[in-house]
Amino acid sequence: MLRSSAFKPRVNAQMWMPRNTARVLCGAPFVSVSAATQQRLCTSGNVAEDLMHFREKKALKQAASATTKPAEPGVNPLDKQTATNQLPAGMVWSAEELKGVQQTHRPTRELVDTIALSAIRCVRYLFDVASGYSRGQITTIKVLRRVVLLETVAGVPGMMAGTLRHLRSLRRVERDHAWIESLFEEAENERTHMLVFVQLYNPGIVLRGLVFCGQLVFWNVFFLLYLASPKFCHRFVGYLEEEAVRTYTHVIHAMEGTAEDQHRVAPDLVAFGKSPAKELAIRYWKMPAQSTMLDVMYAVRADEANHRDCNHGFADLKRDQPNPYIHATKYEQDIDK
Ligand SMILES: [Fe+2]
Ligand SMILES: [Fe+2]
Repeated sequence: MLRSSAFKPRVNAQMWMPRNTARVLCGAPFVSVSAATQQRLCTSGNVAEDLMHFREKKALKQAASATTKPAEPGVNPLDKQTATNQLPAGMVWSAEELKGVQQTHRPTRELVDTIALSAIRCVRYLFDVASGYSRGQITTIKVLRRVVLLETVAGVPGMMAGTLRHLRSLRRVERDHAWIESLFEEAENERTHMLVFVQLYNPGIVLRGLVFCGQLVFWNVFFLLYLASPKFCHRFVGYLEEEAVRTYTHVIHAMEGTAEDQHRVAPDLVAFGKSPAKELAIRYWKMPAQSTMLDVMYAVRADEANHRDCNHGFADLKRDQPNPYIHATKYEQDIDK
């Protein structure tokens, strides 16, 4: 197996992002990475900031407390805390993470960002009008119809991007720097969201037709766009996920009775939030058996925030830079990929 001498990360930390966030790589005391890796990931203040993940705050807090008491030699304190959280499937979010997701916006800095944001705003406006979400009562059916359609679209970019990077790796006979797995995980995560929601709402022929046509167009357009500019595509998905976080935050507030436009929320949506979560959701996110649909919405929102931060981060990386978001256990396995 080939091993790049320039890439020998020696990072021990929490699963997924926090162990590898740019700020962590740029200075947290418990991280040990090569100077070359740091240089690649910390090329500018802006890039480092953009690579931050919403989980990072907690990781930094843990890191700060870890520095106050000496850790066992060679053992990262964060590994102990998350040893039981190493999951092959969905992410396990702590209560603090679920409640702490913020609606963030990554400001535009380049033309490519502006084009991506404009495209997303245009799509959002059309989607709001076409789905009737921006007018009339917000009912459970309206919400489910919207999220099912959203998830069928959201599952495309990760699969396309992962496939193209896979083919590029084969074509050029070189490693991928471990992006492929994250991208495929994102696609699988989105598909699971869709499966959770279709257990509660069976799409009619019109919605199925929309999904079919939408996929036909979006898959091919995204294919061409990713060949032309992966940076644009990841930024586009980053902004798409910002909107997804916004949508799920609104649904959560509506279910809790705290939405700004609560007068538009139908009583059945509040009741739906209190209904039991489906078995698939409980197994996927390893939720308590008594979890509700409101809890499911919190978990989905955390996943979307994860996609948002990862895609904005990918857009700031060069395509041959190592993936800083890979799952900790997988990271060690995929060190040569
Ligand atoms: Fe999703
Ligand atoms: Fe997403």
